[in-house]
Amino acid sequence: MTDNDVTATVADLTLEEKASLTSGLNFWHTKPVERVGIPSIMMTDGPHGLRKQAGAGDHLGVGSSVPATCFPPAVGLGSSWDVELLDRVGRALGAETSIEGVAVLLGPGINIKRSPLCGRNFEYFSEDPLISGVLGAAFVKGVQSQGVGTSLKHFAANNQETDRMRASSDIDPRPLREIYLRGFERVVRDAQPWTVMCSYNKINGVYASEDPWLLTRVLRDEWGFEGLVVSDWGAVNERVKGLPAGLDLEMPSSSGRTDAELVAAVRAGDLDESALDVAAGRVIDLVRKAQAGAGAVAGLLDVDAHHALAREAAGRSIVLLKNEGGILPLAKDAKLAVIGAFAEKPRYQGAGSSLINPTRLDTPLEEIRALASGEVAYAPGFSLAADIAESEAAQLRDEAAAAASAAEVVVLFLGLPARLESEGYDRDDIDLPAEQLAVLDAVRATNPNVVVVLSNGGVVALPFANEVPAILEGWLLGQAGGGATADVLFGDVNPSAKLTETIPLRLSDTPAYLDFPGEFGHVRYGEGLFVGYRWYDARNLAVAYPFGHGLSYTTFSHTDAAVRVTDSGDLEVTVTVTNTGQRDGREIVQVYTSLPGSAVQRPVRELKGFVSVALAAGESREVAVAVRRADLAYWDIRVDDWIVEGGEYTVEVGASSRD
Ligand code: BGC
Repeated sequence: MTDNDVTATVADLTLEEKASLTSGLNFWHTKPVERVGIPSIMMTDGPHGLRKQAGAGDHLGVGSSVPATCFPPAVGLGSSWDVELLDRVGRALGAETSIEGVAVLLGPGINIKRSPLCGRNFEYFSEDPLISGVLGAAFVKGVQSQGVGTSLKHFAANNQETDRMRASSDIDPRPLREIYLRGFERVVRDAQPWTVMCSYNKINGVYASEDPWLLTRVLRDEWGFEGLVVSDWGAVNERVKGLPAGLDLEMPSSSGRTDAELVAAVRAGDLDESALDVAAGRVIDLVRKAQAGAGAVAGLLDVDAHHALAREAAGRSIVLLKNEGGILPLAKDAKLAVIGAFAEKPRYQGAGSSLINPTRLDTPLEEIRALASGEVAYAPGFSLAADIAESEAAQLRDEAAAAASAAEVVVLFLGLPARLESEGYDRDDIDLPAEQLAVLDAVRATNPNVVVVLSNGGVVALPFANEVPAILEGWLLGQAGGGATADVLFGDVNPSAKLTETIPLRLSDTPAYLDFPGEFGHVRYGEGLFVGYRWYDARNLAVAYPFGHGLSYTTFSHTDAAVRVTDSGDLEVTVTVTNTGQRDGREIVQVYTSLPGSAVQRPVRELKGFVSVALAAGESREVAVAVRRADLAYWDIRVDDWIVEGGEYTVEVGASSRD
């Protein structure tokens, strides 16, 4: 449909019809205007699977949804650092969305992980805006290639759950631009999501849902966004203020209340009808896009193929943090003790609006047994219930220690029980439950060969990192995570994921420690630009595992790094990567830059490019990493614009931020 067609359709509508189009029919649908042939379309969560509720919708996901493939949430997928994988997962998600007749999948979420305490970190990619933006764009392109839309969320600066409907994120202009908006800018410019979802919170005192600077000046005038802005579910404060600011569609339904407010405001001369025309036109445009894309994917969901992709993606999401003495991969005939309740009852996704009803669910224990040829004993070690009697806990511990003593190697599953992290609230600490650490101690006392496998959506402290030979960070891995964990443990898959967030030693070391979650409706982003590794590097703080870290069962060398400035002013960094070990593997090459002597304060180094490269054992290849000139810019508050400073930049190439 052309702009003229949209304008003509809008011109045909009554004032009431235009107002009605710009808010939801119910929980998940837009309103139709049958008189002029505008149908209703459906949008549903997202992001890592389709949550299409079969019956009446509800916000909390209590009503069950149609089965869909649960891919690894962003915390896992992001750790792959792999654009091609994100594109493939995006395509599969888009296909499932199309098959179910849904027009828009509500994702990706690309908010910055400002504090490890944010209960929703599992839904976000990174503490770094470049990864968030690059992976977010790949996800959007993948999904949208299937004739359905995405919703880039939560725009913007929604970095905590505490008081999320009201709190003001008070952020200075530089960090706002360079850290919190940069990823959104990347996705909008590179991938044009059909919709952007504005967040619940305020930014510097103004609700995102009624901020003309955010929703119009930055998003449309500067970045060229062409789609529709939808409110997060219930994020509308004052609709009459929000609409002219750039909020096109209120979700879910307000049962006509706010539509009547719009009509009354136009009649009273308080709202220009042309603003309503623009918003209604954007809804019509979205509906037409959905109609044009509908049916792009024919047939039934290929459950097996998507489960296999979910397993591959999960294998690419597991970070090998430590592997002393090459204890991993395990021999298939090793005598194993698998310990920890997560082995039987995996935590594979986070709670809240992203909760998927999976098509099937692998458990690590069964999958380990399926690949092993030796004996695999199992003991739960601890209970996932909130309160159990100490006598029962002691008995579980004793059984675990006994199983461990009889095994060659112990695979110990530790992690955060579901109740400790969710959308809707933040964590109080980053500790694993004490009863789990007690099991670790009991097991180690009888058998030092302990491989710890972690299940957690947000970062946890690892006080035992020096006490065990191997740690796999398994995050939340989606429905096929059990199989993927077995694949990595036995070396059928060589781990290649890397951390997109720093694992600190202590909560009190973290950048936002003294400014999270704020008080009296304000959270001051006092750490400024120094989020994540930018903080630890500037303060020269020791960390448990740095941003970008992740091991493999093979080894890599990086040689002959060179950089050249292209005609457009971008950088092309080349480096020869060699797989110096005995196994095929995959390396993620990272490029960081800095500008010594800069006129402004800058982080010690900032990620500006990366690439994931597969190399056979012994293979050597020159890889090129592009760094965009625009990514070298800082936000200059004197001119309210991006500036690329002249000077001699330092370009660092390595396997982690501290390599
Ligand atoms: C969440 C969004 C979600 C929406 C619809 C909100 O509470 O913040 O991420 O897409 O609900 O379920």
